[in-house]
Amino acid sequence: MAPAPDPDRAGDPERWWHGGVFYQIYPRSFADSNGDGVGDLPGIISRLDHLAGLGISGIWLSPVTVSPNRDWGYDVADYCDIDPAYGTLDDLDTLVREGAARGIRVLLDLVPNHTSDQHPWFVDALTGRDAAHRDYYVWADPRPDGSPPNNWVSIFGGTAWELHAASGQYYLHNFEAQQPDLNWWNEDVRRAFDDIVRFWWDRGVSGFRIDVCNMMIKDAELRDNPPATEDDPLDQQFAGVKAVYNTDRPEAHDILRRWRAIAGGYDPERLLIGETNVEDLHALMQFYGEGRNELHGGFNFVFLNAPLEAAAMRAIVEEVEALLPEGAWPIWTGSNHDVSRLATRWAGGDPDKVRCALLVLLTLRGTPFLYQGDEIGLTDGPIEREDLLDAVGIRFWPYYKGRDAERTPMPWAPGPGGGFTAPGVRTWLPMADPAACNVADQEADPGSVLHFTRRAIALRTGSDDLAVGSYRSLPAPEGVWAFGRGERTAVVVNLSDVPATVDGLSGSVALATDRAREGSPVDGALHLPPWSGAVLRQ
Ligand code: NOJ
Repeated sequence: MAPAPDPDRAGDPERWWHGGVFYQIYPRSFADSNGDGVGDLPGIISRLDHLAGLGISGIWLSPVTVSPNRDWGYDVADYCDIDPAYGTLDDLDTLVREGAARGIRVLLDLVPNHTSDQHPWFVDALTGRDAAHRDYYVWADPRPDGSPPNNWVSIFGGTAWELHAASGQYYLHNFEAQQPDLNWWNEDVRRAFDDIVRFWWDRGVSGFRIDVCNMMIKDAELRDNPPATEDDPLDQQFAGVKAVYNTDRPEAHDILRRWRAIAGGYDPERLLIGETNVEDLHALMQFYGEGRNELHGGFNFVFLNAPLEAAAMRAIVEEVEALLPEGAWPIWTGSNHDVSRLATRWAGGDPDKVRCALLVLLTLRGTPFLYQGDEIGLTDGPIEREDLLDAVGIRFWPYYKGRDAERTPMPWAPGPGGGFTAPGVRTWLPMADPAACNVADQEADPGSVLHFTRRAIALRTGSDDLAVGSYRSLPAPEGVWAFGRGERTAVVVNLSDVPATVDGLSGSVALATDRAREGSPVDGALHLPPWSGAVLRQ
């Protein structure tokens, strides 16, 4: 087991997360302890040593709360209990305790935009216009011709309104019809969520990743959205309307400030990391408020959606560095449960490109969030039409194949079951042949992606320059990205198909995608083969 890092190193109480590396677990697919083909909390506990050995300081679990799984956990039927498929509250407490013993803190997923249609609040709301929880949701009368109240479109396709015939009103759902949107103008909803966040924080949970936190509030007047133009994102052009009034309303920030105040009452302060899937970096910055009064971090989807190209990525990072308010801290990620894994999307399955992507993620100024499997360069799983479980994939196949491919089980070992589950068990989603890529084989190979990831994390967490030092771009030829970190560290990565030389660099190689170079001196110029990179100590 790796020693637990000292959270107060360098005298900075935020150091544990600023200088740390986080890891997203998709619990259904991480480790199955009871042979039902579905991952669970005891399974996660049984793999904590892998994460400690990697040097991870925090994990974010996609939802483990009670859910009928219309949207695989993102439709919550009870915010304060664990879904029996994953275990019990005792298991969660054990995970928090066992994680802490290894220097790993636990973040849960908070889903405040909508509930499941099976949540008791919504079940009650359906009983009539006078129901106690009716106003917890967004209801509106039909237009005179009986059609939906306005032209809002669900992110998952079709109108965002569902008619409830018994009461003659429509309710709003920005995702599936089984995910009714909450009405965040209602103070009772706000108070209910104050209690929910406290429930988990009192149990020792270290924070939340907050689902679609930019969507929580909708226009109070439910105004029609304007038509999309060719300047709008493709999904909005496809829908025909630009999402103006059902998302990104400024009042969402009031809610985040409210939670930040609650988080600040805990010691250590609990973390708020937002799913901030917004169009540009200016919009992202809004979620940091004045720097210390809203989110601690917002996922940067502009970076996530960028190509693995030096100029494109450097420009995004430079803009973030210029725009971030004082006291705010960036987050970097290349994969999650909603997008093709970085080993496929950025690297096309090429381990050299995977190493380059990991090198970038793990050396930028800001907290990296790896997604399970990134550390072994796991590519997307083998999903055919008949395997689909994601409702969105089922709806739009083959134009959009859904999100199942990035959610397939984690391969821990070669052989049947892949160490994810017992041999012969049918896994909830198909698993790629574990012999092709798994943790155990890479553990035994010092040249593997896994060992590279571990060395990169160790270098980062052990170095003030990489953990918390400043960022500055350095001159580099086309296709190469070079940057300085802190006082004595430089990172150079050749994201191109041709060899490159970067002049003006001296020192020694502290980390390289080709480990044979580690420890070697650099004297005035660094030569890099295609798709390779290094960290220099100057
Ligand atoms: C974002 C989550 O990451 C995604 O998986 C989910 O479908 C939507 N929010 C709706 O909750």
